[in-house]
Amino acid sequence: MALPPIQQAKWLPADTFKNEVALVTGGGTGLGLQISRGLAELGAQVVIASRTQSNHGPFLEEAEARGWSVESLQLDVREPAQCQSLIDGIVERHGRLDHLVNNAAGNFVCPTHRLSANAWRAVLSIVLDGTFYCSKYAGRHMLKAGKGTQLNIVATYAWTGMPGVAHSASAKSGVLTLSKTLAAEWAPHGVRVNAVAPGPFTSDGAKGNLWPDDETEERIRSSVPMGRFAGKAEVAAQCLWLMGPACSYVTGDCLTIDGGLSLGAGRLFADGARPGKKDTPR
Ligand code: HXC
Ligand code: NAP
Repeated sequence: MALPPIQQAKWLPADTFKNEVALVTGGGTGLGLQISRGLAELGAQVVIASRTQSNHGPFLEEAEARGWSVESLQLDVREPAQCQSLIDGIVERHGRLDHLVNNAAGNFVCPTHRLSANAWRAVLSIVLDGTFYCSKYAGRHMLKAGKGTQLNIVATYAWTGMPGVAHSASAKSGVLTLSKTLAAEWAPHGVRVNAVAPGPFTSDGAKGNLWPDDETEERIRSSVPMGRFAGKAEVAAQCLWLMGPACSYVTGDCLTIDGGLSLGAGRLFADGARPGKKDTPR
């Protein structure tokens, strides 16, 4: 039986990442899984890495069915030595590392005045420290090779802030600044560093930690001008695009993929058509 197409891969030529090696942290679940599936479908050898190996099962099973070349490794991005040996090991085995996606994250909602030091640290160490460690150790190989891409997943509250997620917003803000800094530092050496800022999309981690009940989920959904959450494949398609050769002159950028949520325009005048006139576009 024919397997269904990988939606996020359909916009790029089939061999876009052929013979290249990509590491996706947190690549077994949520958005990371969709990026990994897209990279593998477009020819890359994909390594996914995170703490819980049972999270890797679905990707490994699909890879077998589709004939993708993939690998799954255990990693806690909070541990610099683990990040270094995992990345050095990839380069030893495969001879190269072309792409890094810093996707692993932790998050939960907690008013800042109740956030313990340990809770702050838990998120900062995964999101900001973990991104720094992986970027640095992957960067060393990419600088030597004179090419490579790094993609960091942030959120629009990296520049707007957001009540209830001071830890995550601060960490993502740091990651965004790190992206721009590395982009400038490494541009002369052929290494591109970009970010994407997705709006809300459904994942087990987000649902469990950020919108556990239907009412909250609906409130968030209705505040998005497009009136819906992002699809994970829809976001992954933009990640693949930024990593690919069409964006060879793009570095230090952050692509917002949020259905208009961060425009902050509200809908104050949305129903303000002239009395008696139909509210239809002319
Ligand atoms: C208050 C909390 C808490 C909560 C944990 N803590 N959850 N405090 N409210 N809901 C506190 C604990 O009490 C503890 O502090 C400290 O945080 C560390 O908790 P641990 O459970 O030991 O941490 P750990 O096992 O390291 O787990 C990390 C985690 C967890 C971040 C807490 O949520 C996780 O693993 N998440 C991964 C998946 C995930 O979050 N995905 C969502 C991505 S969505 P004390 O002081 O008690 O010791 C996203 C962007 C969304 O990032 C943007 C939408 C627009
Ligand atoms: P998710 O499925 O919960 O993904 C988080 C991943 O990070 C998991 O695979 C987890 O795997 C891994 N991870 C967590 N802590 C780790 C650690 N210490 N070391 C290694 N891996 C770790 O969540 P998601 O919603 O898809 O999020 C993906 C990215 O999108 C994140 O950067 C998130 O901040 C961002 N984002 C999400 C949304 C949203 O609405 N969902 C919006 C904007 C941005 P293990 O548990 O196996 O370690």
